[in-house]
Amino acid sequence: MTKNTGPAAASGMNIVVTAKPAAPVKADLLVLPLGTRDLKKDAGTALRGLDLDEGALSDFKGTAGEVAILYRPAVGTGASRIALLGFGEGKSNDDFRKAAEALARKAVDLHCGVVAMDCSGIGSWAKHAKRSPGYLAGVIVEGVLYGAYRFDRLKSGKLDKEKKSDAGKPKTIGELVLAGCGEQADAVEKGASAGRVIGTCQNTARDLVNLPGNHLSAEDLADAAREAGKRGCFEVTVFDRKRITELGMGGLLAVNKGSEEPPTFTIMDYQPKGKIRKTVALIGKGVTFDSGGISIKPAAGMDEMKSDMAGAACVIAVVEAIAKLALPFRVIGLVPATDNMPGGSAQKPGDVITTMSAITVEVGNTDAEGRLILADALTYAKREYDPEVVIDLATLTGACIVALGMKVAGMFSNDDALADDIFRAGQASGEKVWRLPLWDDYAEQIKSDVADLSNTGSKGAGTITAAKFLENFVEGHKHWAHIDIAGPSYAAKGAGAGSGGTGFGVRLLVDLLTSWS
Ligand code: BES
Ligand code: MN
Ligand code: ZN
Repeated sequence: MTKNTGPAAASGMNIVVTAKPAAPVKADLLVLPLGTRDLKKDAGTALRGLDLDEGALSDFKGTAGEVAILYRPAVGTGASRIALLGFGEGKSNDDFRKAAEALARKAVDLHCGVVAMDCSGIGSWAKHAKRSPGYLAGVIVEGVLYGAYRFDRLKSGKLDKEKKSDAGKPKTIGELVLAGCGEQADAVEKGASAGRVIGTCQNTARDLVNLPGNHLSAEDLADAAREAGKRGCFEVTVFDRKRITELGMGGLLAVNKGSEEPPTFTIMDYQPKGKIRKTVALIGKGVTFDSGGISIKPAAGMDEMKSDMAGAACVIAVVEAIAKLALPFRVIGLVPATDNMPGGSAQKPGDVITTMSAITVEVGNTDAEGRLILADALTYAKREYDPEVVIDLATLTGACIVALGMKVAGMFSNDDALADDIFRAGQASGEKVWRLPLWDDYAEQIKSDVADLSNTGSKGAGTITAAKFLENFVEGHKHWAHIDIAGPSYAAKGAGAGSGGTGFGVRLLVDLLTSWS
């Protein structure tokens, strides 16, 4: 049985699942996944079957993400380039994800257009990892899509000194064949197709994060949501400045004051065909570039503030993924968007603004802009939809990087059960979150002498005071969570192919909603 789950929209990667063995598949690279458990036995069998010298194993340890390339004389249709791929102990999703990502990076570097992976062991890997083969296939496909991702749409190629011999070779993996699936083929096919949706949507989010300020305005971000809506068949409404003003979204308007470009407020509305389990509102911070405004940021690293709409990118991608996976929830995605610029008409430190909720805010620092636009979105979500669950994602505070580093997001919730669910989804998806407190001890810091609130907390606990600020706008909502993704949403320059937007949060939220379905 051979099934083709079809081309992945953004990546163009075909994923084919077959029960038939991998070795004869016509491919540029044949992948042999191997774990540390029984490495010598499994690898010996695999290598002998391909007439390869077991000596290769003297260096290969099978650690997760380890890749060794071997060559054999051309035989029949099978690939002559072989990759031994380590998946370590094979116990956690991360073992398989890491392996798949590393493999895809290598395959792209080697210009392998067609990659065949020997999945004959997937039943036993799954058993050992206490997961289903389909689930594992999904994780592997997500990893391959993630690792194969490159952001090159702004490269003209004019100055490429690429070796002549590489010209005309595939730039990315065009086809991934999961072969040797035997009787697991149906399950693998289902899992792979879900993995393809998630991986592709995550890469869409990465594209948006990687687009710099001059290529992605608030209106462009709204257009990206419209395109996602077309692909995922859900409704998208965009409010322009006039509508935003009518609604009294004073936070969003204040941040936009210094900008040459109008703000947008985008609403994505996915309604499942059958019964709706619950309505979930997802809110993403969409600051397309954060200069800090009049409280301007230092020059060093300011370029990275093109990623200040990573929360918005994530929300757009998640709504598309949920729609394509047809999960039984109504999902409302809300994206308040603007850049944060200094200028003659920009808001000034000390200004007092009135948010949509009527709560007044003293703007102690114009660089604490994210919470101002999120405040209006929280108010709108509650008033318009009264959803069962509200989750916002935002690159909100540099302090979160100080607290938790570049890999882990900060999480806040007024609902312990929701916090537990999000934590668990983080562990499963590899997009880890750590809960921080919303204790009232911190409320003092955001009091203002002249307004209801100050947008700037006094010294210390900057991530928590930002969350405490937002808490004022959830209007008694019992199931709210805030996720500060300032650290993990963007990998600084120099992380090689993995640098730039990470699409953090896409797998996390899809896992969360899947766990409720
Ligand atoms: N977008 C930034 C937070 C940020 C910093 C995200 C670094 C990713 C990497 C946010 O708008 C901001 O500037 N926050 C200020 C708040 C402060 C002025 C209260 C911060 O973290 O310094
Ligand atoms: Mn800022
Ligand atoms: Zn910001």
